[in-house]
Amino acid sequence: MLRRGIVLAGGTGSRLFPMTSAVSKQLLPIYDKPMIYYSLSTLLLSDIREILLISTPRDVPLFRELLGDGSRLGIRLEFAVQQRPAGLAEAFLIGESFLDSAPSALVLGDNVFYGEGFSDHLSSASRRGVGATIFSYPVQNPRDFGVVVFDEHGRATDIEEKPEKPKSSSAVVGLYFYDERAPRFARTLTPSARGELEITDLNRRYLETRELYVEQLGRGFAWLDTGTCASMLDATNFVATLQRRQGLRIACLEEIAFRKGWITKTELAAAAARFGASEYGAYLLELPLFM
Ligand code: DAU
Repeated sequence: MLRRGIVLAGGTGSRLFPMTSAVSKQLLPIYDKPMIYYSLSTLLLSDIREILLISTPRDVPLFRELLGDGSRLGIRLEFAVQQRPAGLAEAFLIGESFLDSAPSALVLGDNVFYGEGFSDHLSSASRRGVGATIFSYPVQNPRDFGVVVFDEHGRATDIEEKPEKPKSSSAVVGLYFYDERAPRFARTLTPSARGELEITDLNRRYLETRELYVEQLGRGFAWLDTGTCASMLDATNFVATLQRRQGLRIACLEEIAFRKGWITKTELAAAAARFGASEYGAYLLELPLFM
């Protein structure tokens, strides 16, 4: 069965008030496009074409306005509401009927990934039929994340959520691939001390049976944070620097869909026309000339 995707784009965005007082954090810009484009691009690059976007009752209509039903990208996009931020693993309770016993990938709507070879990482995770695949990344502040510990063979031995005393500097990034058991396991979880259904507890379920695979993303890779105003500015500058140097856009959804053959040249031109005189629209219009 084909893998299905979930983008979790809820939460209160309280760390970014007043920017997020009236609109979802994941709709704020990272340079030239809404933040949600970056996480969606990760699923598209994993060849996932059936996607559920989960957000707050206030913001779901805005995401729908922005993205439509996905047909403009040659994908199927559905929407669901999370009433309150009760934890990342709740995505599998909300998304259970959408997943319909398919394997899945969950991406957090505020995570930005960039690096050569990323598509290869995604396809190898996506191809793995049994178990769960997550990704680790070295960080300076592991206390702020899920943290994974490895043995000498590079196999995960332990995983903890925001530990007081981290046993490694390997953070777990906000991208998770699961086999069809994820909703079933999620149903057995109980809320943590902070009252959330923790994704780390779901990952632990797979770790207990040695079915948790952790791919290590190295120093040539960028996993960017968007949790504070300063980190949003850093992410914006990162994207701007690369795009202006290369003339290639990061996380351009229409480009990915076109390169994968999911939309035609005519559909690409129609998307360009929708974006009118913007630089983004002009980029889409010129794209076929450079391929
Ligand atoms: O970014 C990676 C980290 O994401 C992992 O290392 C951690 O293990 C994982 O727990 C998570 O940690 P965060 O502290 O970043 O989670 P946070 O509560 O900030 O939620 C991440 C995003 O998901 C945020 O944009 C809000 C959204 N969210 C969060 C919760 C708890 C929801 O949409 N619904 C929720 O119920």
